[in-house]
Amino acid sequence: MSDQEILCDVGFIGLGVMGKNLALNLADNGYKIAAFDLDTDKVNDAIKQDEVERGENPQRIFPCTSYTELLAKLKSPHLIMLSVPAGKPVDDVCHKLIDAGIQADDIVVDTGNSLWTDTVQREKDFEGKLLFFSTAVSGGEVGARFGASLMPSGDRYAWTRIAPMLKAIAAKVDSTTGKPIERFEPGNPVLEGEPCATYIGGTGSGHYVKMVHNGIEYADMQLICEAYNIMRTGLDMQPSEIAKIFRDWNKGELNSYLIEISAEVLEHIDPETQLPLVDIILDQAGQKGTGLWTAVSSLQIGAPSPTITSAVYARALSTLKEDRVKASTILAGPDISAMNLDKDTVIRELHDALYCSKICAYAQGFQLMSMAAKEYEWSLDFAGIAKIWRAGCIIRAVFLQSITEAYQRDEDLTNLLMDPFFSEQISKFQSNWRRTVANSTMMGIPVGGFSSALAYYDSYRSAVLPANLLQGQRDFFGAHTFARTDKAAGKKYHVEWSHKDRPIVKI
Ligand code: 6PG
Repeated sequence: MSDQEILCDVGFIGLGVMGKNLALNLADNGYKIAAFDLDTDKVNDAIKQDEVERGENPQRIFPCTSYTELLAKLKSPHLIMLSVPAGKPVDDVCHKLIDAGIQADDIVVDTGNSLWTDTVQREKDFEGKLLFFSTAVSGGEVGARFGASLMPSGDRYAWTRIAPMLKAIAAKVDSTTGKPIERFEPGNPVLEGEPCATYIGGTGSGHYVKMVHNGIEYADMQLICEAYNIMRTGLDMQPSEIAKIFRDWNKGELNSYLIEISAEVLEHIDPETQLPLVDIILDQAGQKGTGLWTAVSSLQIGAPSPTITSAVYARALSTLKEDRVKASTILAGPDISAMNLDKDTVIRELHDALYCSKICAYAQGFQLMSMAAKEYEWSLDFAGIAKIWRAGCIIRAVFLQSITEAYQRDEDLTNLLMDPFFSEQISKFQSNWRRTVANSTMMGIPVGGFSSALAYYDSYRSAVLPANLLQGQRDFFGAHTFARTDKAAGKKYHVEWSHKDRPIVKI
């Protein structure tokens, strides 16, 4: 059969690392793909990889050299997936598709890490020209190829049309154990199990939820890095020894993809120097922006997410390498040798500190989503969100099953910390968490993640915070008024502070 006679199920634009792997995953699931990339080598590379994996020409991915050809090769109404860099390239491709004759009921699905407000705008801008839909994707290269976690949102009609396709390429979870069903080979897609793809909600909500996923990812990674730093700097342990601790932790509550890959990174030996590669990697962390967006959104909404935000700051501080190197010769720290800590005890405490801090980071992320849902009028299903994060995505962990169960127990849970399972876990492990923060602080080892999580926990459980004094200060210099604990809620009061005999005035 010639290429001309075959009508494809889906068009794919952008065959970079994520796009190529999503396209191959779709092909494994029986979909025929019309592929276009401005760089034709990328399309050829995807086809070549498919041939190598499947043998001979599997006729699953068909190259296109223009947007017009791509539309001509598709069944109607057209369905096109984009995997192009977030921002202007998404708009550019949509405009090119409009010029090439795409129709109002043809669906264009953005799979990139777009800013959620851009997605909202695009749905409005392209209305009547094409049906703009989005599905955020987590899982990196391997997730895209063998099963990712997908966070689709937007037009419900579009969702009904593409749901079977998205569920097919999603990671799957064993519905009885809640554990991922692994598939790391081309072909033979996993057909059974619960797919890690669920309709998130109205316009922009999927990208918002993915943004918060990434904020939690930043926090989780930073907490693991702080645990590593305490062992490496405070206990002078070798990377391979720390890897063993992580492997051990990976058998219990802390079991997660991020702990697993951290152990692998720590074990890796640089072939050139024969030294642990981690000792050679420059300590300056990059970022593409999703963690920053989460922090900004949490500040705008007033949803406290200090552990997520401090993870963004930690990356920023890491980039000030030159300053830090200079400061290290000038600014004094404590004398670590005087601490005389027992190594096994410190490691045991560290495990609990990591676990408690992690609970707080997830509590912050889920509360942020809950407050955002109120603000933007989305109806989010938090058990459903936790479920699709159990496999495929970067923060996948056994822990997500406990979060799923917490929201199944109470769908209106205000904060994960208030769930009986999690409150019990924290009360059981908190003394070791406190000791870790105290000892690290005394050793001069920065633990912005652990300590911000602990301060969050202590603030959240405080019936009284010093914001009473703060309101007094505000009223003093700015007549900003205050409420009283002994009078009706909602009434505002002001004092002429410098004049002791003046009465308190009700505003
Ligand atoms: C995922 C990842 C993915 C990516 C981000 C984060 O869920 O698959 O979060 O989206 O790794 O781009 O990258 P930065 O650390 O560079 O911000």
